[in-house]
Amino acid sequence: MGDSQAFGHLLVTGGAGFIGSCYVRDVLGRRDGTRITVLDKLTYAGNEANLAPVRDDPELAARLTFVRGDIADPAVVRPLVESIDAVVNFAAESHVDRSILDPEAFLATGVIGVHVLLEACRVAVRRPRFLQVSTDEVYGHVEAGHALEDAPIAPRSPYAAAKAAGELLVRSYVVTHGLDAVVTRGSNTYGPYHHPEKLIPLFITNALDDRPLPLYGDGLQRRDWLYVADHAAAIDLVLRHGASGETYNVAGGAERTNRAVVALLLERLGKPWSLVRQVEDRPGHDRRYAMDGAKLTALGWRPSVSFEDGLASTIDWFQANESWWRSARSGDWDGWYERQYGRRLANGLAAAPSSGPGD
Ligand code: NAD
Ligand code: TYD
Repeated sequence: MGDSQAFGHLLVTGGAGFIGSCYVRDVLGRRDGTRITVLDKLTYAGNEANLAPVRDDPELAARLTFVRGDIADPAVVRPLVESIDAVVNFAAESHVDRSILDPEAFLATGVIGVHVLLEACRVAVRRPRFLQVSTDEVYGHVEAGHALEDAPIAPRSPYAAAKAAGELLVRSYVVTHGLDAVVTRGSNTYGPYHHPEKLIPLFITNALDDRPLPLYGDGLQRRDWLYVADHAAAIDLVLRHGASGETYNVAGGAERTNRAVVALLLERLGKPWSLVRQVEDRPGHDRRYAMDGAKLTALGWRPSVSFEDGLASTIDWFQANESWWRSARSGDWDGWYERQYGRRLANGLAAAPSSGPGD
């Protein structure tokens, strides 16, 4: 088990993404002398602007090194791992819909990439601790109750399968090679800097432009929402105090139907429900994710931001940072959007069950 003294220098992979950049901003912002090297490939989802609050503060910037590179490239990874105390691996392809259309990159990063990181840790002169950031989606659809960490994993999308494979590799390195490693499984996360392809930021940014909001199927799927800063804090706690070989659920404790989320979002924005279009469902769509978070509560973590407050501040952030999200919706965005939603929006659903939010 580590303490903050032991982790003076972290390698944060995927640190220019949504949750990784929050982790970097928050850990450096505590000004406890920690240094961070970010390794990020800067895929369409990575954005160095997510680290601008660090760059703009000379004291924080002095403790950050940014390396653009691929976690699946041993030539990049091995020298970086030699000089650090812990690896926090956020790097992944993270969008379920893209994993349905183009799964290869999910496997390259989620399986080969994780393996390259683990090998680099195994052969390092001074082995670092390893934290794998995983997801509640490895449990698959949870019909009733709340999944405990020892429940069987049953991923149902290529994204979730790649994440499950990554976790299993980590476990194998703990058992076979005695690596010091922990796993976190976070629930659906939202907040500032969230790439606009995901439900909450997509619907906020579409609504701001009075564009249709493509709600999959009946919209009664349920997710457990977690504010990004709470997720980052949970990961840091597990890094510092989690027991090696253990997995920790990070449950937001805010289970909502998608329809309820969208209704709240529209109310806050002052936009009408008529923007919502019920469209063809996602294939293999998990109806419900739900985890039991007691193990992490016992370690000393609980969410500090309610869903209502978190959603309100997320909406405020998107309203105040229009240039950030317009830039994230540039480049390949239009091609992606057409491929993902063009036919769905043109067809709609034959029978829209209701004209209001319902539940
Ligand atoms: P994101 O897509 O916003 O960020 C991913 C980052 O990883 C990007 O900066 C990208 O450039 C980088 N990256 C991708 N492939 C890489 C590679 N091969 N080498 C180096 N960098 C690479 O994702 P996110 O939402 O911030 O998720 C971060 C992690 O948390 C992921 O592992 C994801 O599976 C996990 N997670 C996410 C959620 C969620 O709701 N967003 C919930 C639970 C767990
Ligand atoms: P998403 O943000 O993609 O996260 P995940 O699939 O990892 O849970 O989606 C959250 C929920 O919102 C999920 O049930 C799918 C649904 N959804 C829509 O209805 N329409 C959309 O356009 C998107 C992106 C998601």
